[in-house]
Amino acid sequence: MTYRDRIEEHIANFPKMPPLCQSLLGYLDDPDVDFKTIRNLVQYDPGLTANVLKLANSVYLGTVQEISSLQAALVRLGTRRVFELVLSLAVSTRLVPALPGYGLEARDLLRHSIWTAVAAQELARILQMKNVDTVFTVGLLHDLGLLLLDPFIAGERDRFTLIFEEQSISFNTAEREVLGIDHAEAGAGILELWQLGPEIVSGVRWHHEPAEASCFQELIYLIHLADMLSLSEGIGTGIYGLQYNVSAEPVRALGLKKEHLEYAASKTLDKMRELETILT
Ligand SMILES: [Fe+2]
Ligand SMILES: [Fe+2]
Repeated sequence: MTYRDRIEEHIANFPKMPPLCQSLLGYLDDPDVDFKTIRNLVQYDPGLTANVLKLANSVYLGTVQEISSLQAALVRLGTRRVFELVLSLAVSTRLVPALPGYGLEARDLLRHSIWTAVAAQELARILQMKNVDTVFTVGLLHDLGLLLLDPFIAGERDRFTLIFEEQSISFNTAEREVLGIDHAEAGAGILELWQLGPEIVSGVRWHHEPAEASCFQELIYLIHLADMLSLSEGIGTGIYGLQYNVSAEPVRALGLKKEHLEYAASKTLDKMRELETILT
């Protein structure tokens, strides 16, 4: 059995989304969710619901008027945004463990993911993009594949070390060379099984090769950029963190200036602290 086969098996066996998430996903195209349905949703997971409200009232959304119930959140924010809040919370707890293969300590991946999500969202605001919440979600999910690949990377430590001594290739290219799949494809595989839709799946799939994507280009450029910014700030670099190809295209194509990147990085640091406590 090849590494790729084994990793595909892990993708298929990766835990499903929590029930609250799954139910909301089912209501995404239904603007008239009724009271009874909402009550049933809260019963699934009152702890998660409480955290959704905390997040909804945090810097994440910057809402002025306090949102005090899931129902109010659905009315005020819409099902899609609430779904993305729930998903962010559900996924965050999975990003906490240490990943020895990548040389990441406990919470390193979580911090890198939140940093990337917030920075991407800040840049999306500068660019006045419409779907800033989806940008946050993709940022948070972009390295989910690291969870699956970590034990395989750890098992092949010597081979990875040798590759980087002899060649100057990007880390995800090395993953493909050794394992037959990279963490971007593995992460996208999980999200595809979760049926999160092509925008989120593509955002994760192409975050290291933004020029290869055939759609959602703006979103993918933003995630790539925020990810690279995060690594250049030393957030979640691990052993191999700086070994990535940084595409110059996103900055040019999005029309961003150096000041924009600096502004986004400084705002991100402030928001990061509050979000880290709420998200776990
Ligand atoms: Fe990545
Ligand atoms: Fe990343």
